[in-house]
Amino acid sequence: LSYQDVIETTGDLIVTNDVLSPDGFSRGAIEFGPLIKAHTGDNIRINVVNQLTDRSMPVSTSIHWHGLFQRGSSWADGPEFVTQCPIVPNESFEYSFEADHPGTFWYHSHVKAQYCDGLRGPLVIYDSNDPYRFSYDYDNEHTIITLADWYHVSSELIRGAARPDSTLINGVGRYKGGPKVDLAVIHVEPGKRYRFRLVSIACDPNYQFSIDGHSVVIIEADGEYVQAVEVDSIQIFAAQRYSFILKADKPVGNYWIRADPNVGDQGFEGGLNSAILRYIGAPEEEPTSAASESKMPLRETDLHAMLDSPAPGVPQPGAADINIRLVPTFNTSTLKFQVNDKTFVPPETPSLPVMLQILSGTHLAQDLLPQGSVYGLQRDKVVELVIPPLVLGGPHPVHLHGHAFSVVRSAGSTSYNFENPVRRDVVSIGNPGDEVTIRFKTDNPGPWLFHCHIDFHFVRGFAVVFAEDAPSITSNAPPAWDELCPKYERFAGVQDS
Ligand code: C2O
Repeated sequence: LSYQDVIETTGDLIVTNDVLSPDGFSRGAIEFGPLIKAHTGDNIRINVVNQLTDRSMPVSTSIHWHGLFQRGSSWADGPEFVTQCPIVPNESFEYSFEADHPGTFWYHSHVKAQYCDGLRGPLVIYDSNDPYRFSYDYDNEHTIITLADWYHVSSELIRGAARPDSTLINGVGRYKGGPKVDLAVIHVEPGKRYRFRLVSIACDPNYQFSIDGHSVVIIEADGEYVQAVEVDSIQIFAAQRYSFILKADKPVGNYWIRADPNVGDQGFEGGLNSAILRYIGAPEEEPTSAASESKMPLRETDLHAMLDSPAPGVPQPGAADINIRLVPTFNTSTLKFQVNDKTFVPPETPSLPVMLQILSGTHLAQDLLPQGSVYGLQRDKVVELVIPPLVLGGPHPVHLHGHAFSVVRSAGSTSYNFENPVRRDVVSIGNPGDEVTIRFKTDNPGPWLFHCHIDFHFVRGFAVVFAEDAPSITSNAPPAWDELCPKYERFAGVQDS
């Protein structure tokens, strides 16, 4: 695994197949990505080089930079057939965009469920004006904790409900009945304070995350600073991130780091779903620490944006400029999801150029856009989305591209918070009785996907596109971008024959 590698601001992301055995079981897969790091304001330039050959998985690719806003660079957002055609094997494509806000992010393939085969990695944008910089001593590549689900078969073979074979923490883990693979060890120096960055790069499960004997102080959620809140366990959904401060002030020793998934083999027997926190000076052995019952679990309603910023718009439910109810459903005979009765089927040409063609009068919108799945939004409006839960396969974490949103009503809460809600980019829509409500302002023109981040649900149509201020979406993409679609068409033709 290339977790140890780092790309600083610019570089080549070489996408290759390999036989991987991160949990001791060998399978053909796609190499995990290195850490990408930059500083606020940097121009990130990543040249994605597609060297994929294994046709048991998707061989075309495209990369999404999860949580970055892509202001003025919506062409670089990544989802196949929404902002670009896929990059075919033996081709490369350079993404270039601004590190627009500091925080903890990640990147992943946005072609089918390809990231579940490995193509995903953490992305951190460091902040020289971090308001918490005096609260910790360390924040570096050794303090990133990634949580991933891992499957012993290709994503293409996963039908119906997915069941991960193992949990990988920083790229390694164990499966039930498998070998005793060395678990990830995170070293801390006694007495020091660490800023850990917890990144779910999962395709499906949410995890109950905790570290034996330690509580932590959360300071960031999904690339947004929050007011410090102390917790002893964190339920983290697919694609969410948290920064927390941990004080290494417990007796020198080894402590279990636990990430219990809601699907797949649960529990910790034999080192499942685990990693190790090791104080320097402790023996190199596995912990014997016991999990204690969580007394201070994270509740989303306890998270508040750092500067007490209110949600945009009139502080009353349903009183935004544009109010949209998005009702997810599942059809048990077609095994497809619908949002407001429409299954998202990506157009076989990307909608961004399609929009531009519409503007130039070349095509009629209804011929090309996936009907019913695209919502036009005018500029400078406050949008309120209300999303009732869908029990089957849930709780579902939904993600909006191009924005962070204010969560004015969280899952599990019946009250609204317009005054100082958390802002984030992935939120769980919860269980029966919930009705999650989020708000954002249309200040960023682009074709932005909104979808369930359980990747297998996205592939089955749990998505819509917001065409935000379509007239202002300009094609400021590099020339190579225009060449991708013809190349893909030729390639797809070859593949079919
Ligand atoms: Cu992580 Cu469509 O996104």
